[in-house]
Amino acid sequence: MPRPIEALVHADALAHNLSRARMLAPDARVWAVVKANAYGHGIERAFDGLRGADGFALLDLSEAERVRDLGWRGPILLLEGAFEVRDLELCSRLNLWHVVHCTEQIDWLAAHKTHQPHRVFLKMNSGMNRLGFTPTAYRSAWTRLNALPQVDEISLMTHFSDADGPRGVTMQVEAFEWATQDLPGERSLANSAAILRHGLKNDWVRAGIMSYGSAPDFPEHDIRHWQLRPTMTLRSRLIAVQQLKAGDTVGYGSSYTAREAQRIGIVACGYADGYPRHAGTDTPLLVDGVRTGTVGRVSMDMLAVDLAPVPAAGVGSEVTLWGRGPGGQILSIDDVAHAAGTIGYELMCAVAPRVPIHATRDD
Ligand SMILES: Cc1ncc(COP(=O)(O)O)c(C=O)c1O
Repeated sequence: MPRPIEALVHADALAHNLSRARMLAPDARVWAVVKANAYGHGIERAFDGLRGADGFALLDLSEAERVRDLGWRGPILLLEGAFEVRDLELCSRLNLWHVVHCTEQIDWLAAHKTHQPHRVFLKMNSGMNRLGFTPTAYRSAWTRLNALPQVDEISLMTHFSDADGPRGVTMQVEAFEWATQDLPGERSLANSAAILRHGLKNDWVRAGIMSYGSAPDFPEHDIRHWQLRPTMTLRSRLIAVQQLKAGDTVGYGSSYTAREAQRIGIVACGYADGYPRHAGTDTPLLVDGVRTGTVGRVSMDMLAVDLAPVPAAGVGSEVTLWGRGPGGQILSIDDVAHAAGTIGYELMCAVAPRVPIHATRDD
């Protein structure tokens, strides 16, 4: 029998979360952001749930090929554009739309031989200082692009640094509007946090983390507040039970000491499965659907859990590390990430290759 750990990808939850983006931005078209192998869910597994999107946004050309191989004929956007001039050949062949964020990418387009002009998204650096043309340089980049026979329609785009926090989006929206006010073309500004918190609904919204059932502004708001559903369950089983006496310690470094007699379970899940090693004692999980917490350090293949709230549990009991419990109980990935000092994005992207992942439609 294989180790009992596995992950499930819930297609219906993906479809539900995408429909939340649609509901909040009813006049916009929705990019399902599927970079990083659909935020760790697997592009092929996530595709079924996300096929109602208007397009797929991603980074890797190989991921774009995989989306085309799934039969998707609609828009695909390369969020970082081409990485070298040769990439433009694949863009022509697969009819990929691509971001243009620097002058080198304009030079490559100018040198590219194609019969089919490309649809491009010209990116503005409106304050994040990662990718894009500054507001003052934006217009000349647009003018240069617009003069190229290799370029078809130009859409206008920026990305927010603080849509999930107190700084918000106002300064960046103002910078974007100042530089683009009389430029034609569709606009794309909003990531998940901007859709949820700021009601931004320009022509194309980019729904990433919200599609995967994680609240971008946790713990200020959780998925229940935003009416999102977990799209990934990581689950395993108890493979041992230990009865501790007061003063007994647990795991490497003996970082946990029992204050009284205590029953703990040992779960077949560790950091080599992608579970965060920095999750300290009391990181939430479910045993047979009952919420309890970890005890001691997470090791490579195992972690320990307090069984006090679930006395009937024993070897073989189901453990939900995050996602959906056996009776439909929800443990959001954000709860676990927060306890480990990280964000849901990181945990879902980090599920290790040794964990089998299955697509389901059962929720
Ligand atoms: C350019 C761009 N747009 C959209 C997204 C989606 O963001 P989120 O997952 O926060 O919705 C990302 C993700 O980092 C991004 O880089």
